[in-house]
Amino acid sequence: MSAEETPGDAALGLLAAILPAEVAAEECFDDPPDTWLFPEEEARLARAVDKRRREFTTVRRCARRALARLDIAPVPLLPGERGAPGWPTGVVGSMTHCAGYRAAAVARVGEVRTVGIDAEPALPLPDGVFEAVSSEDERARIAAHAAEHPDVPWDRLLFSAKEAVYKAWFPLTRRWLGFEDADVAFDPLGGTFRARLLPDDRPRGLDGFEGRWRIADGIAVTAIAVRAAV
Ligand SMILES: CC(C)(COP(=O)(O)OP(=O)(O)OC[C@H]1O[C@@H](n2cnc3c(N)ncnc32)[C@H](O)[C@@H]1OP(=O)(O)O)[C@@H](O)C(=O)NCCC(=O)NCCS
Repeated sequence: MSAEETPGDAALGLLAAILPAEVAAEECFDDPPDTWLFPEEEARLARAVDKRRREFTTVRRCARRALARLDIAPVPLLPGERGAPGWPTGVVGSMTHCAGYRAAAVARVGEVRTVGIDAEPALPLPDGVFEAVSSEDERARIAAHAAEHPDVPWDRLLFSAKEAVYKAWFPLTRRWLGFEDADVAFDPLGGTFRARLLPDDRPRGLDGFEGRWRIADGIAVTAIAVRAAV
């Protein structure tokens, strides 16, 4: 995969391309004016600034469209424990928003155990953030990738992958996970990454996640979807 794809590729589905077929993903590159909220959702925005109102509203439009693809009718999608979205019974999913992009991904619990998605502007992180979210080993690997593929904002991708890890981890455990609690390694050419989960007291069998990454139209996306055991 090339790091920066041809402009316009995202129109094909920036996230859908890195999620398995069991996951329905919908995305928006602007904030359509006709988007509505349920009163319960609207109530959560009582003190919200305009940016928060727009991202919250549009990402829920994406989520409702994705749920519709699973034949699930619109319901309020309220932030729950530690901000995790409350999905209808029988659904797992994840939402993300950044400047110029909003996306939601959902699946049926019988098919997928957990989903974590994250989007970021495809730009280097602000000063000091990379050091705060990475280990020495991760920094060494990122430096090597940066030497070979300087066009990719590897520091931002690492940050995004860790946010996707947290969003996939939290619904399974209902527990906090710090940036130091996962070791993320990228395959720079294959568009994949592996996250090792480091807490000693992690649930048995939950040792890590496999994810995918992609950059197109100035947006970096990372995605994790763990298929349910058959
Ligand atoms: C929660 C967090 C991951 C959100 O990421 P972000 O880049 O700030 O924001 P995004 O736009 O990508 O995602 C926001 C969405 O994440 C979802 N979200 C928030 N908390 C969540 C949680 N605990 N579990 C799962 N999803 C969550 C929500 O749907 C939210 O959108 P909404 O408020 O409109 O419903 C981030 O703010 C955070 O707390 N990070 C620290 C924990 C972490 O990343 N650890 C790294 C482990 S290796």
